[in-house]
Order: sequence, then structure tokens, then C-alpha cells
Amino acid sequence: MTALLELEEVHAGYGPTSVLHGVSLSVPEGGVVSLLGANGAGKTTTLRAITGGVRWTGDIRFAGRSLRRMPTEEIVRRGIAHVPEGRGICTELTVDENLKLGSHLRRDGPEVRKDYDRVFEYFPVLKERRRLSASTLSGGEQQMLAVARALLMRPRLMLLDEPSLGLAPMVVRSIFEIIRTINQTSNVAVLLVEQNARIALEMSSSAYVLEVGRVAVHGAGSELQDNESVRRSYLGY
Ligand SMILES: Nc1ncnc2c1ncn2[C@@H]1O[C@H](COP(=O)(O)OP(=O)(O)O)[C@@H](O)[C@H]1O
Ligand SMILES: [Mg+2]
Repeated sequence: MTALLELEEVHAGYGPTSVLHGVSLSVPEGGVVSLLGANGAGKTTTLRAITGGVRWTGDIRFAGRSLRRMPTEEIVRRGIAHVPEGRGICTELTVDENLKLGSHLRRDGPEVRKDYDRVFEYFPVLKERRRLSASTLSGGEQQMLAVARALLMRPRLMLLDEPSLGLAPMVVRSIFEIIRTINQTSNVAVLLVEQNARIALEMSSSAYVLEVGRVAVHGAGSELQDNESVRRSYLGY
């Protein structure tokens, strides 16, 4: 499989603080890759580097093209949708208005309408609540809204930052199932940041474990799941 996204020796940080110390990873076209690791390891910073939210050196390539010095809006237009930590939805807006933020850059009206239909198939609750304020949604529904909004950008790659955070286990299950369905039916590749390693590995073809800004372990999802010492040392289960 050819790589859709490739990070090569990426260094990044905030002002004088360096956080990533040479991270290399790749996500194949249509694949699901998880990025695991303890709190503070640099997972969120890695996603921010990809979408141009933090300064970096090294190289990041998407669909064969370097993203160096590319503005975030252009990165989004090229097909990367970022669902940030904490979901990033606007609770002052309605569900519909939040969804429009996902599709507003697109000029392919009829295709946009098809994507709305598809999104409402994945998340019927969002259709029922279209006209309500996003603040009336539960945590799980807000996460669904964030994923739905990203899908309306019709991305080739979705970056998901801890979609399970703060959600009840049953809700987490259903969100991961939808993410899996989206990946399989819409052929969207996924780079999934998770602290919940067990559930992330179940659906990932490969995984990277970050430890203080470096890749400590990399392997097939099943390989990491089966490796007891990796599980104990890095994944906490
Ligand atoms: N905006 C910021 N300014 C300064 N330091 C930050 C900022 N965001 C994160 N950091 C620091 O970068 C390190 C990695 O954070 P982060 O990428 O959020 O890790 P993770 O997502 O794996 O928990 C942490 O030490 C954190 O304190
Ligand atoms: Mg984080």
C-alpha cells in the first residue's frame, strides 16, 4: 500500500520547548493507524504539526506533496480533516450550523447533499436535532457532531484526537463502530490518537506508541495487542 501521509523525522514544539524529537510514521491510503502513548507524550502536538498548528522541521508529506509552510486552510482543502481534542464544536450554534462549517468550503453542491444524507444515516440523532443548539447534545452526541462535520469536508484522511475521552464505554463502542464503518465504506484513512489502547488497536492495521516525543514502539495492531510486555510497559493493560 502506498503511504497517504508520511512524517519523517519531525521535530516540533512550542517556543523554546521542544516536544517532538524526530517522529516518523506513515498512514496508508484508506488505512487506520493509531497513535498511542501516555498523557503528555506528544500525540496532540503530532496532529497539530500535520495541520500546521505548530511549527515543525523534518518533513510531512500528504499524497506525495510536502506540507511545509502550507497554510492550514490549504491543508484542509487537500483532504485532511482534524477532529481536535475536546471536539471543537461551537455550542453557541445549532447542529446544522456546526455541520455547515464542515461543508462551507465546498463548491460541489449535489455531492454535498449526498454527503449530508450519508452523515445522517451514520448519525440519525443529528438529523433529529438539526435545529437545536449543539449545547443540548450529550458528550457522545457532540463527538458524533465533530466527526460528522469532519466528514462533510469529504476528507481523504481524518485525524481524530481522543474521540473516547470522557464518554461512557457503550457510547465509545458505538462511536468506534461508526468510525470503522466510515473507514470501510467511504475509504477515508484515519490517524487515531487514543489513550484507550485496547479499543484503538482492535481497529488499527498498525500502531505507534509515542514516549516523550519519540516513537518507542511500532508494529501491526495485532502484534502490539499480542505482545504482553508492550502492553504492560506502554499501553497499561
Ligand atoms: N500550547 C502549548 N504550549 C506549551 N506547551 C505545550 C502546549 N501544548 C502542549 N504542550 C506540552 O507539550 C507536551 C506534549 O503535549 P501533547 O502533545 O498535548 O501530549 P498528548 O496529546 O500526548 O497528551 C506536554 O509536555 C505539554 O505540556
Ligand atoms: Mg492530547
